[in-house]
Amino acid sequence: MKTLYLSARQENTARIAAEIIKKGGLVAIPTETVYGLGANGLDEAAVARIFEVKGRPQDNPLILHIAGTDQIARFAHHIPRAAYDLAEKFWPGPLTLILPARDFIPRRTTGGLDTVGLRCPDCPITREIIRLSGVPIAAPSANISGKPSTTTAEHVRFDHDGRIDAIVDDGPCRVGVESTIVDLTEPRPRLLRPGGIGPEALLEVLGDLVVDKAVTAQIDRDAVVKAPGMKYRHYAPQSEVVIVGGSREKAARYIRAHFEPGDRVLCFEEELPLYEGCAPLSYGQEADVNTLSAGLFAALRELDDPRIHRVYARCPVGGGVAYAVQNRLKKAAAFHIVDAEEEA
Ligand code: TXA
Ligand code: MG
Repeated sequence: MKTLYLSARQENTARIAAEIIKKGGLVAIPTETVYGLGANGLDEAAVARIFEVKGRPQDNPLILHIAGTDQIARFAHHIPRAAYDLAEKFWPGPLTLILPARDFIPRRTTGGLDTVGLRCPDCPITREIIRLSGVPIAAPSANISGKPSTTTAEHVRFDHDGRIDAIVDDGPCRVGVESTIVDLTEPRPRLLRPGGIGPEALLEVLGDLVVDKAVTAQIDRDAVVKAPGMKYRHYAPQSEVVIVGGSREKAARYIRAHFEPGDRVLCFEEELPLYEGCAPLSYGQEADVNTLSAGLFAALRELDDPRIHRVYARCPVGGGVAYAVQNRLKKAAAFHIVDAEEEA
């Protein structure tokens, strides 16, 4: 199969992409978070191809991307007031709402669940593709399962060239980590995955929020969890990743003392001078957490190299999108964290 490359700036791109979706094809779509691997979410055969191409476990549900708040009731039922409050405040944007699914939504799309994730992406070309295709677009992050997510069209090309119908290129993703997922199917709203919208902002609207255990700890492969995706090893390069916490100086002392040839250091731009000779790679500025979230997956992909033995990673502190960066790095490190303050 020859993969078609479409620029978001070209006039007929949305129309061409929508035609492919309508025919049951696979189109990589840009969003503000990460690139998704999209197909008609109501077409079982098309959805099956997403799982196949990604190498994704069948029980891991896909998010349905919709064009606006007015479409929530088309795909979900028993919608609490909180869903509309959140959608009004954060859509289009990096927030996915889990709601009871209408019966006509294929259980292949929902991973066999009776709930569905809905999200309206903050990306005009993708909303246009959804509108023109007339169907909700099911799309996981476009990376091959288990690998760091795709934040450029080039990442998608690397993983899927010749295996999908088209890639719509809209440049690098602005947010760079996936959407925040909130489950609204229980009496208390539950955070299943931190993302582009921070927990504090959610709390302000909801007044209550349970943080699911899958967010803060390593989950057993056989465990029953609310967001099946959270139990799989994720976001990770091939090498071992170790997060080193603590002050700049103490972390540098610890890493330099343990560094061996073949290791790499993933750090903040401000720290580069501290790691001369340790092959440091910066993923953004500590002073601007948005650059860290935007740069994280590209850096993890660069470090996905069998020749690398171990990666020492520096992680931002704080809430907002930093909370999501912490979560992705901890997952990549399988929660292997060293506190340089205690080690020193
Ligand atoms: O930002 C995003 O959300 C990106 C872009 C493409 O929109 N998509 C994305 O999809 O990250 P994916 O498939 O890589 O991650 C979706 C996560 C998985 O952990 C999955 O288990 C969870 O959402 N999920 C989807 N539907 C769910 C449901 N009905 N109940 C619980 N968790 C669900
Ligand atoms: Mg993913």
